[in-house]
Amino acid sequence: METTTIDVRQGDFNVEDVETLRKDFNWEEMKATFSWYHTGKVNMAYEAIDRHAENPNKKDQIALLYSSPKREESLTFDQLRKRSNQFANVLKKYHVNKGDRVFLFMPRSPEFYASFFGILKVGAVAGPLFEAFMEQAVRDRLEDSQASMLITTPELLERVPVDELPDLEKIVLVGATGVDVSNYIDFDHEMEGASESFDIEWVDLEDGMVMHYTSGSTGKPKGVYHVHHAMIQHYATGKWVLDLTEDDVYWCTADPGWVTGTSYGIFAPWLNGVTNVIRGGRYSPESWYETLAKYDVTVWYTAPTALRKLMSAGKDIAKQYDLSKVRHILSVGEPLNPEVITWALDAYDRRIHDTWWMTETGAMLIVNLPCMEIRPGSMGKPIPGVEASIIDDDGNELPPYQMGNLAVKEGWPSMMRAIWKRPEKYNSYFINGWYVSGDSAYMDEDGYFWFQGRLDDVINTSGERVGPFEVESKLIEHHAVSEAGVIGKPDAERGEIIKAFITLNPGYEKDDALLEEIRQYVKTGLSAHAAPREIEITDTIPKTRSGKIMRRLLKSWELGLPTGDTSTLEE
Ligand code: WT7
Repeated sequence: METTTIDVRQGDFNVEDVETLRKDFNWEEMKATFSWYHTGKVNMAYEAIDRHAENPNKKDQIALLYSSPKREESLTFDQLRKRSNQFANVLKKYHVNKGDRVFLFMPRSPEFYASFFGILKVGAVAGPLFEAFMEQAVRDRLEDSQASMLITTPELLERVPVDELPDLEKIVLVGATGVDVSNYIDFDHEMEGASESFDIEWVDLEDGMVMHYTSGSTGKPKGVYHVHHAMIQHYATGKWVLDLTEDDVYWCTADPGWVTGTSYGIFAPWLNGVTNVIRGGRYSPESWYETLAKYDVTVWYTAPTALRKLMSAGKDIAKQYDLSKVRHILSVGEPLNPEVITWALDAYDRRIHDTWWMTETGAMLIVNLPCMEIRPGSMGKPIPGVEASIIDDDGNELPPYQMGNLAVKEGWPSMMRAIWKRPEKYNSYFINGWYVSGDSAYMDEDGYFWFQGRLDDVINTSGERVGPFEVESKLIEHHAVSEAGVIGKPDAERGEIIKAFITLNPGYEKDDALLEEIRQYVKTGLSAHAAPREIEITDTIPKTRSGKIMRRLLKSWELGLPTGDTSTLEE
C-alpha cells in the first residue's frame, strides 16, 4: 500500500528510534520519571486531573468537553478537580472506604466523570457498567463484585434488583428531580453541600482502581481487576501511540462500560493533559462527523464496526464536513479490514492505525505507531517494553508465518492483577511465563502480527465481546426453550452476529412470533448487544458425552464446512 503524502506528525520518534527503544526500554526506568516514584504512593485521580489543576498554565484548559443532543457542557481541569473532590466528600460521608467496590450504571455525562474520579480519590475501586445492560447482566456483576454502592439514574434503577443484592447498601441517584429519594442518596443535593477540597487517599501502586466484567466461553462474566500501577502504560501509550500532545482535542468513541472507554476514554488522555471530547446519545454518520468537525478533534480513537458503517454511508457525507484538523486516527476491538484502510485514505486522507489489546491486558500491546509503515490487515508490532510471540499449546515459540496462540511475556504495568474471587481462572491464562490471549495469529518476518480469529467460543459482535454461555443461559430461561447453543456467524458490517440454535419444549411449535418473543426476552433480560439476530430451531443440540455444547460443530453446520473430529459427540 502507498503511504499517505500528507504531512502528518511522525510521533515522538522515527522508525530507527523505535527499534532502539524496543531493545533498550524498560518500564522501571520510565517509572522513575514519575513524581511519585520515591514515595511509591500514588493516585490515578491526582495524576490525571489534580496535577493539571495545580498548574496555573493548565488549570483553566478544558478537560472535558461533553456533548449530547440535549446538553452541552465543558469542565476545566480545575472544575473537574473540584467536582470530584465534592463527590469524594460525599463518599466519605457515607462511609465508603479504600478497596470498596463502587459501581456506576449511568450514561456518559459530566456527573459520571466527576463521580468516577471521586471514587478513585477515596481509594475505592470503580466498576462502570454499560448503560444498555438489563437486569440479569446488572445483577451478575453487582453480585459477584459485592459492590456496596451503586451510582445510577432513576430510569436505570428499574433494572437493578435491589432487594436481591444484600451487599448493595447504598444507592446514589443522579438527576432525581421529582423522584421520591427517601431511600436513596440524592446526588444533586449532596453535591451542593459538599466541600470542594479533599485530601486524596494515597494508595499503593498495586491497589485496586477499576474493574471491568468480560466474557469467556464458559461461565458467567469475570471481573477483571486493574490497579493504579497501570497509569505508566496508559501514559506511555497515550504519548507514543495516540501521539497526544497537550493541546490536542481527542475523541475516543467507546463507552466507559468497556475497557477502551476507561483506559483510553479517561486515563490515557487526561494523564497526557488533553481536551477530551465525550459524546453522549446515539451515533449516526452525520453526528459523528459533526462531532469531529465542530470541536476540531485532532486525534480520534474508534472501532472497525464504526468505520465500516461510515464507509457504507459513503465518502460524500464525509466530504461535507471539515475534517482537516483530524491528524491521527486509530482503531481497536476487532480485525480492521484492509478495505477500510484504503477507503479512509481516500475519504479522510488519513491512514488508520490499528491497535490490539484486551480487557485483561489493560492497555495497548500491539500497535501501529505513527511512524510505522502500515501493512493493511496486520495489527502492527509490540510497543517498547512488551514482548509478544506466537506459541504452540505447550508454550513453545513458533517461527514466522506459523499460526498459533498469540501470547505476551508477563511483566507489563497495565496487566490485570486478578479475576475477582477466581484465582484459578486467572492462573489459567498463563503457560511458561506467557500470557495466552485466546486469539490465534501469526507473525511475519518483520515482526508484524496478523490476527486470524478467536481460539475459544467467544463472540465479537460490533467490537463487543459476548460469551455464548450467558446468552444460552438466558435463552433456556424462556418457557418455550429446552436447550440452546450459541455461536458467532460472520457478518460484513458487525464482524459477527449472534446466532442461536434452540430446541423447543413439548407443546411449542416453530412460529415467527415465538422466535421474536424469545429474541426480545434476551434483549430485555440481558442486553441488546447479546440478543441473537438469528434463531434457528433444531431437533437436538450437539453435545459431548460429558454434556458440553459442541459450538464448533454448530458453526460448521452453519457455514457448510466439514465437521471435523466428532468422536466425542454424544450418541
Ligand atoms: C478481543 C478483546 C481492549 C480493546 C477492546 C476489546 C479482539 C481487539 C483487535 C484488533 C483483531 C482484535 C481480540 C481480543 N481484538 N483488538 N486490533 N484486531 N482483533 O477488548 O472486549 O476484551 O476483547 O478483541 O479477539 O482478544 P475485549
